[in-house]
Amino acid sequence: RWYSMAPSYVLAIDQGTASTRAILFDKDGQVKAMEQQEFPQYYPQAGWTEHDPNEILQSALNCSELAMKKAGAKKDDIAGIGITNQRETTVAWDKVSGEPLCRAIVWLDLRTAETAAKLSSSGGKDRFRPKTGLPISTYFSAVKMRWMLDHVAEVKKAADEERCCFGTIESWLIYKLSGGTAGGVHVTDVSNASRYMLMNISTCKWDETVCRQIGISTSCLPSIKSNSEIYAHVKNVSYLEGLPISGALGDQHAALLGHACLDVGTSKNTYGTGCFMLLNTGFDPVPSKQGLLTTVGYKLSPEDKTTYALEGSVACAGRVVQWLRDNLGIIASSKEVEILANKVEDTGGLTLIPAFSGLFAPHWRDDARAVAVGMTLYTSKEHMCRAALESTAFQAVDIMEAMKQDTGLRLVDMRVDGGMTVNNLLMQMQADALGMPVLRSKMAEATALGAALAAGLSVGFYHNKESVRAMIEKAGGYEVFNSTTSTAARQKMQSRWKDALKRSFELAK
Ligand code: G3P
Repeated sequence: RWYSMAPSYVLAIDQGTASTRAILFDKDGQVKAMEQQEFPQYYPQAGWTEHDPNEILQSALNCSELAMKKAGAKKDDIAGIGITNQRETTVAWDKVSGEPLCRAIVWLDLRTAETAAKLSSSGGKDRFRPKTGLPISTYFSAVKMRWMLDHVAEVKKAADEERCCFGTIESWLIYKLSGGTAGGVHVTDVSNASRYMLMNISTCKWDETVCRQIGISTSCLPSIKSNSEIYAHVKNVSYLEGLPISGALGDQHAALLGHACLDVGTSKNTYGTGCFMLLNTGFDPVPSKQGLLTTVGYKLSPEDKTTYALEGSVACAGRVVQWLRDNLGIIASSKEVEILANKVEDTGGLTLIPAFSGLFAPHWRDDARAVAVGMTLYTSKEHMCRAALESTAFQAVDIMEAMKQDTGLRLVDMRVDGGMTVNNLLMQMQADALGMPVLRSKMAEATALGAALAAGLSVGFYHNKESVRAMIEKAGGYEVFNSTTSTAARQKMQSRWKDALKRSFELAK
């Protein structure tokens, strides 16, 4: 189709935890227009976080329409739609009405702690790791599905009557975009599927045994597709009508592509609400002994070999800055954190362990709680801001160390993107804590670029995945932050951090 109409853009929808964006990318992978909208967060109880699936859908539609208006683009100017999304967040909907059965449970929600503990009680928290690559944690979709089946009568009833659909956000969006009110195709992509804790990481199919042990019927689950193929065409949305939905990836996997981490040993870290570091490990899944996740990197056509990754997920990064702003009120806006932190040389002995939603990789402790260690009467809000930034940098170091140990690879640098990376002080702290260069991409939208690439490849708009390198170059390449610390100084920082971590665990006991 595009040969005759010669579209100029791919539309990427980036549905994140805090906001949704729609971005039009041109043939050279450059941003032509972007629209971003926040949507409501619901916190019905302490530790609970929910999203309304219809509000998410609406935000994706609004952003797409507005971005197209900004670019002066009509649907014929668009070759395909790529979706990238906050992962693990789980939606349950009714196959007949196409309507959600309850609000979505968001990835960092802690309500499932008991469900996770129950699942771990026979066989331990690593019982599904050999098959799924994941430890049992509140984080993954299967635990959220189990919770819904146990606590939401409508979900249980729909599952019993075989009209319950489970899916992550891309699955929900594709379903709604492809069928209007009642919905259409029920699919998920292989990268999102690798976060359900139900997929066999080696075969990339739902694992019947794991599904049975957790009590999730495969009839409720979407079909697993590659990251780059036409899943369906848009129906009943006038300004997108008939367009192919031609790519989908979890946001962190999309960022791996958007940073051109195409070779074994290349890694990226995205600093959003949480922090997610992924390392390309090639065509074989690498099991982790260090508390990392074995996950799918990407698979760029149904025939393509799967590229795997090791991931270190950190629950609280940008979220800590939000906490300083919204709960403590010591900064008025996120950017103030850098100004205040820059006013002091160090943290004055203060170390903050931001275990506000437990600790993810490499510890996987739902029960860990935040602690601030080493305060004196001299401790100020400036020190607190610095300690908050430092906590993000230190968590990335723990993950990088685990990656080195699991793979034996010599990792030489880290590519970064995400909201927090505008913070130059954090970038320098990160390079210093790691003892390696940090490369900040000038292409700020690495995640959306990855989704655009996947969507463009399957419709012939882009020609090969390697073209992403030229796209990044064209956007200005990378800005490098070099490490300025000695090994001895890094060891000293690390032991202060490790000591504070111990106290967070002690508190949990
Ligand atoms: O695993 C959760 C992650 O995909 C969420 O990313 O950028 O929405 O915080 P973000």
